[in-house]
Amino acid sequence: MVGIDFGKPLFTSEEIQRKIQELGTRISTDYAEKDLLIIGVLKGALFFMADLLRNLRISVQMDFIHSTSSASRSEGGSPVKILSDIKTDIAGKDVLLIEDIMDSGVTIDALKKMLLERKPASLKVCVLLDKPDRRKVQIEADYAGFRIPNKYVVGYGLDYEDRYRNLPYIAVLPVEDR
Ligand code: IMP
Ligand code: MG
Repeated sequence: MVGIDFGKPLFTSEEIQRKIQELGTRISTDYAEKDLLIIGVLKGALFFMADLLRNLRISVQMDFIHSTSSASRSEGGSPVKILSDIKTDIAGKDVLLIEDIMDSGVTIDALKKMLLERKPASLKVCVLLDKPDRRKVQIEADYAGFRIPNKYVVGYGLDYEDRYRNLPYIAVLPVEDR
């Protein structure tokens, strides 16, 4: 059986919820007069997106994009592969892209470029976690919950080989488990 006890969380469920309330207030203020479309990047953003949306005091629409980092990354091909695209026409819309974590920045950079070609009125990015030390492309999130050091984390949507997403807290993956 694969255990799911990681000892002390990096962020507890309560700390995550408090941070999401703050983000929700900021986003509700910033988009008060707008017609916001939220796009979640599957699968990692699922839990964050669900909780963030419940903390917004504005009317929003939502859609999902399912992407995965592609093996062709090192061969100069497109760095992300789209497994399932959004169904919404985003032309003229205010769009907020939601992702679990910004690491090298390659995924969000590629998704932003792809979405900008569809001419949204605006496009911003919100991530729960930010690992700025690992950046390979010059990009910053417009909204970021927690800045974390260069450690591999799991829980609350974040996975290691598609496991541990269901943990209600975020923990550092012990090195021996990798
Ligand atoms: P980037 O393209 O390097 O910014 O990577 C983004 C993707 O890598 C995220 O959407 C995550 O799926 C994954 N990732 C990066 N760091 C972590 C981590 O610490 N835990 C779990 N997944 C991670
Ligand atoms: Mg992932």
